[in-house]
Amino acid sequence: MRMYDLIVKKRNGGAVSRDELEYMIGESTQDRIPDYQMSAMMMAIYFRGMTEEETLNLTMAMAHSGEILDLSGIRGIKVDKHSTGGVGDKTSLALIPMVSACGIPVAKMSGRGLGHTGGTIDKLESFPGFSTGISTEQFTRQVNRIGIAIMGQTKDLAPADKKIYALRDVTATVDNMSLIASSIMSKKLAAGADAIVLDVKTGSGAFMKKEEDAFALAEEMVRIGNGAGRRTRAVISDMDQPLGRAVGNALEVKEAIDTLQGNGPEDFVELCMTLGSQMLICGGAAGDEKQARSMLENVIADGSALRRLAEFVEAQGGDASAVWDPQLLPQAQETWQILSPAEGYVSHIACDEIGICSLILGGGRETKDSCIDLSVGFVLQKKTGDAVQKGDILAVMHGSDAQKMEQAQKRFLKAYQFSDHAPAKLPFIRGIIS
Ligand code: URA
Repeated sequence: MRMYDLIVKKRNGGAVSRDELEYMIGESTQDRIPDYQMSAMMMAIYFRGMTEEETLNLTMAMAHSGEILDLSGIRGIKVDKHSTGGVGDKTSLALIPMVSACGIPVAKMSGRGLGHTGGTIDKLESFPGFSTGISTEQFTRQVNRIGIAIMGQTKDLAPADKKIYALRDVTATVDNMSLIASSIMSKKLAAGADAIVLDVKTGSGAFMKKEEDAFALAEEMVRIGNGAGRRTRAVISDMDQPLGRAVGNALEVKEAIDTLQGNGPEDFVELCMTLGSQMLICGGAAGDEKQARSMLENVIADGSALRRLAEFVEAQGGDASAVWDPQLLPQAQETWQILSPAEGYVSHIACDEIGICSLILGGGRETKDSCIDLSVGFVLQKKTGDAVQKGDILAVMHGSDAQKMEQAQKRFLKAYQFSDHAPAKLPFIRGIIS
């Protein structure tokens, strides 16, 4: 087989067979395909597309390019969750203790963030001492003991995807639906869970800005997951404004704790309930959504989800005191109120801009090696649809550097739009694909 012939085939609109895709991924993982040929192939796929069968075969080949995590030592049906990401997305922090407290074992691999705020691991590091540097054996033992563990992504998780994604990123071939779906799903399949629940975001703070694209991506990923023998469902949720009220690592941890105490913001609670229900159904703990919601409500009301978070933080070396006293989380030196320059209604919030403001304050990573300031960010007081008077507080900004705060404040104010009538309200959950 020759890579050249596969490129010609795809360039001419043909379908690449499973053997050919396995050859391509196998050779690429062994560094035997030059970057220019793989880039040419990605561009050919970008323009010609892939069939459902090709997409599944590419995903499987990439998933098997490294280690497939063996979770067979963990009792029960393991259900993983993945979000396509957005601003203020602290969902795992509240959701995984909730589903774990309902009896679903959570064995999750997570990453650090590149962009506006940190990833789940960065956020959890708001608890001093918390570490995800645990071995697979410790990971398995911990899930069997307390029902929940998170480890960092190993280098050997779908290495072919890592290499190919790096090329796509610099050759303008990221935004192809089949390539995105196979990239995300190859990592999820390699992470070993029996079932997968996907949270696909749509709106100005999401990877998929248009709702129809979010649905198409969700459908493609559900097809791949089910085709690979994993029960897979997807929720399409709004990311046209930040999720909840908090944006920034420790601030989001606090909001997750509030939620586990029954005091979460409406949209965030709804997302946790929707995703959690799908996880309980996929994991066989609930027969239908009504039963699942009632189980999730119970573990919040009786405090068991919050206790599960504390047990989990402690099991991974962290100081869980902040679960009981969130004042102990990293605190910024200053808080500034950002005041409304207009009266009327908030008609739109440029969600990705709020993410960039958090990055300016130091809450995210510009490069892989940047350090994150866990304490900084925003707590929004006004969201889309809210009525405002001139001078009302739109948000409280937490920061430690006046110059950065000035810059972030200016940009933050530009992200808000106002009108004299209330904007049409779209449902927060746009759909569920099962
Ligand atoms: N995230 C991924 O992991 N892969 C893509 O291709 C796009 C987003």
